[in-house]
Amino acid sequence: MRKKIIAANWKMNMLVSEAEAFLHTFMHEIGGENSVEIVIVPPFTALSRVSEILGRDQKAKLGAQNMHGEKSGAFTGEVNAAMLRELYVRYVVLGHSERRTLFGETDEIVNHKVRAAIDAALRPIVCIGETLAERDAHQVEAVLRRQIEGSLHGVNARELAEIVIAYEPVWAIGTGRTATPQQAQEAHAFIRRTLSELWDAPTAEKVRIQYGGSVKPQNAAELMRENDIDGALVGGASLDPRGFADIVKAAAAL
Ligand code: 13P
Repeated sequence: MRKKIIAANWKMNMLVSEAEAFLHTFMHEIGGENSVEIVIVPPFTALSRVSEILGRDQKAKLGAQNMHGEKSGAFTGEVNAAMLRELYVRYVVLGHSERRTLFGETDEIVNHKVRAAIDAALRPIVCIGETLAERDAHQVEAVLRRQIEGSLHGVNARELAEIVIAYEPVWAIGTGRTATPQQAQEAHAFIRRTLSELWDAPTAEKVRIQYGGSVKPQNAAELMRENDIDGALVGGASLDPRGFADIVKAAAAL
C-alpha cells in the first residue's frame, strides 16, 4: 500500500507571521492524524521558521519549492540542496509548470536538479503535465513520456522508488477547472505504466503519484479514491488551514 502524500504548495504567498498562524490552526485541526504523509512547502523566507515550529519529528514534513542543481558558486538569487538540508527540508518540488513556463526550466535543467536533490538525500517531487493545447492535440501521453524520460534520466530503480511524481495538468492549475477523476486516473495509470516500462513493475508500484490542479476539500476525496492517485499537491486551497486540513482528513478517510 502506498501511503498517501498531501502537500501544501504555498507558492509566492505567506509571510512568516502568516505561516505561524496557519500552522497553529492546521496542527490543531489535524490532531494526531498520521495515516497520511503531510508536506508543507513554504516560500524560502519562511522555511526556517516553519522548520522550527514543525520540530525535529516533523509530524508534517518540510518541503521547498525549488533549488539550484549546482553545489555552490556564483548563482545570485539561488539556493542549493545543502542549504535546504540544513533547515531539515525533506522534499523539494522540482519542475513545477510555473518554473517551466515562467522561468524557462527544461527537462534537462529539472534532471540536473533531481540528481543534485537525490545526492543530498532530499526527496524530489517532480511535476509533469500537459497544457490545454497539448491535450486538445491528443499529445498528453507523448508529453508525459517525454517529461518522465527527460526529468528522470539516469535515476536508478532504488532512487525512483523514493521520488514523488506530481501530475499537474497546466490547464487545471489555478483555474478552478479540475481534471475529472477519470481524466486524472487515466493520466496517472499511463505514468505508472511508463515507469514500469522504463524501470520495472515492482518499482513503478512503489512510486507515489500526486494529482495537482484546483484540488479543494470538495473534490479531494473523489480524486484520491482512484487507484493510481496517491495524494495531492495543493496550491490555492492550501493557504487556508481548515480547508487544507479537510483535504488531509479526506485522504485519511479513504
Ligand atoms: P492550484 O491548487 O492553485 O490549482 O495549484 C496547483 C499547483 O500548482 C500545486 O503545485
